[in-house]
Amino acid sequence: MTDLPGIGSAMADKLASAGFGTIEALAAALPQEVASLTGLSLSASQRIISAAREALDLGFKTADEIYEKRMKVARITTGSRNLDSLLGGGVETQIITEFYGEYGSGKTQICHQLCVNVQLPAEKGGLDGVAAYVDCEGTFRPERIVSMCRAAGLDPSRTLKNIIVARAYNSDHQMLIVDGVQDMVNEKNIRLLVVDSVTGFFRAEYPGRETLVMRQQKLNKHLHSLSRIAYMYEIAVVVTNQVVARPDTVFGDPIAAAGGHVLFHAPGARVFLKKLKGNRRIAKLVDSPYLPEGEAVFELTEDGIRDPAGD
Ligand SMILES: Nc1ncnc2c1ncn2[C@@H]1O[C@H](COP(=O)(O)OP(=O)(O)OP(=O)(O)O)[C@@H](O)[C@H]1O
Ligand SMILES: [Mg+2]
Repeated sequence: MTDLPGIGSAMADKLASAGFGTIEALAAALPQEVASLTGLSLSASQRIISAAREALDLGFKTADEIYEKRMKVARITTGSRNLDSLLGGGVETQIITEFYGEYGSGKTQICHQLCVNVQLPAEKGGLDGVAAYVDCEGTFRPERIVSMCRAAGLDPSRTLKNIIVARAYNSDHQMLIVDGVQDMVNEKNIRLLVVDSVTGFFRAEYPGRETLVMRQQKLNKHLHSLSRIAYMYEIAVVVTNQVVARPDTVFGDPIAAAGGHVLFHAPGARVFLKKLKGNRRIAKLVDSPYLPEGEAVFELTEDGIRDPAGD
């Protein structure tokens, strides 16, 4: 940060404590945001942001440069070939993937599985990286990781060491943790960031219609920073969102059933999960920037996420 013109170590510290600890974070920030969080003037904030953007060479790119960045998109296998093909080969880096569905639909199980799989080498469907797990519901279970490791022939203690877990206690804390993760991405080789669930605290803290606008604004800001992290650091960001399923249709309009979808404004893939019989689940790709909509059936097993037997 101190490489930027006009930023000394005192200023760098000030910016870091306001959540702008990296050039990327600063480059993507709004001047108003920097000003209000640091106490700097608007014009000084603008100047620093411009310097950060210049350092990163942000701004217009030609389509071939964008294509080159797209070519760097990597994927993490989910453990189920069906689900992977639905997602175009697995959960993508550079965007947010949202898994939403009712309780027990497998959102948390998928998150656990991805924390294991991101550690696999590329030829096995991983990214050779570390996972960061923001646990907002207290449902992270190392025992599940251990079972999944055993099934995959991985060393459980090594795998557990490569999953950084932070328990969040409210929505502000959740956002703070995400800022903190951002500062560790490169240093710790984090390639997957999970937020399970991304919406729970916001729903609880802003109940009812009167607070809906405020909830949505705050949530949008959070999703914006998640999506910025995914893009800037080229990592996969996976979020979950619990919704109440409508009992009368297999899919119907799940978004309407959710009582208003919350993740409209962030780019990414949305996957609706629904319970079938027993441990079977069906996933539906609802919104992807470029993949066709489709469905996939998978199973939740002791070993993790798998294709149904006989598939
Ligand atoms: N050890 C296991 N072996 C087999 N299946 C399991 C195991 N542990 C959990 N499951 C399956 O996972 C389901 C729970 O899924 P999960 O916790 O991912 O749901 P969720 O979508 O996160 O729900 P919520 O909205 O309540 O957080 C259980 O109902 C069960 O079917
Ligand atoms: Mg869960």
